[in-house]
Amino acid sequence: MNNCKLYLAPMEEVTTYVFRQVLDDCFGGVDKYYTPFISPDQNKILKTRMGRELDPEHNKNLNTAIQVLTNNPEHFKDFSKIVSNLGYKEINLNIGCPSGTVVKKNKGSGMLRDLYSLERFLDEIFKNKSDDLEITVKTRIGIDESDDVSEILEVYNEFPISELIVHPRFQKQFYNGKVNLEAFEYIYNNAKMPVGYNGDIKTKDDFVHIVNQFAKVSSVMIGRGCVTEPRLFSFIKNDIDAGYDIEDKKVIRKFHDKLLDYYVSEYGPNDSVFKMKEFWSYYILNPAFKGKDLKPIRKVKTLSEYKSGIREIFYE
Ligand SMILES: Cc1cc2nc3c(=O)[nH]c(=O)nc-3n(C[C@H](O)[C@H](O)[C@H](O)COP(=O)(O)O)c2cc1C
Repeated sequence: MNNCKLYLAPMEEVTTYVFRQVLDDCFGGVDKYYTPFISPDQNKILKTRMGRELDPEHNKNLNTAIQVLTNNPEHFKDFSKIVSNLGYKEINLNIGCPSGTVVKKNKGSGMLRDLYSLERFLDEIFKNKSDDLEITVKTRIGIDESDDVSEILEVYNEFPISELIVHPRFQKQFYNGKVNLEAFEYIYNNAKMPVGYNGDIKTKDDFVHIVNQFAKVSSVMIGRGCVTEPRLFSFIKNDIDAGYDIEDKKVIRKFHDKLLDYYVSEYGPNDSVFKMKEFWSYYILNPAFKGKDLKPIRKVKTLSEYKSGIREIFYE
């Protein structure tokens, strides 16, 4: 493999600290973990659900970057201090979230609607940047096709962003439709900072395809592909082809059981069932479950109902 680093993408409610710890414990292969976004616009952030992601105890032994969603330079500054004091080395600014409510508030990818405001915001946060915290950005390529990616990059290029991680879709696409590799190529060729790629990497071959096309890409970030196939990073790192025989199924099951146990210990049985069902909407796409669907767990509410449901998916 070249020098390209492998990052776990932030996915709200999915790539939680529970998921990150169990993934690292079972398979590893991840160079850096990104927390789902944290909105610092609330009091006592460390006590909130999002704040639990920040707890150093929950990120023990993992190389973790903290993602922030804000367009308020003061909030960014105060939150950066918290992040830095907790010992983290990187804060990642979310300029990608496509959700309507977020965009309406000019946050996430909504920041791309007004490049002048984006520039002023970046100017403020870099003016206040402390030496011991890197600032990276995760971005989309615009709101829709009418946006010019060169104008967006021109703004980013003014600032000492440590790495620009690009999900080459427009906000209007959400997570669907084709990734725009031409726009990515433009950024890759013209950015002044290291550029990472994110989007639709589901197999080792998808990864190889990207690094063959963009040999100097600094990182590849993977989200859904890893939730579906938790071994994906280790396959890429160790150049292993996926297998789906009975032994593989046992390994996949072991990962599942560890995840469930950890959720139960952190959130109690009922909330854990809810969280595991969210996870299964990706997991079920794993070829190990070919021909299966989520019916056995769709309506379950208790832990024992859940356990008998998944037995059906795994073994019947
Ligand atoms: C359910 C869900 C939650 C997400 N939450 C976040 C988030 O908190 N922060 C962020 O930057 N991106 C978030 N994303 C986007 C992913 O990080 C990633 O950019 C996107 O899924 C494309 O990569 P993939 O094809 O490897 O999944 C989320 C995506 C999904 C599907």
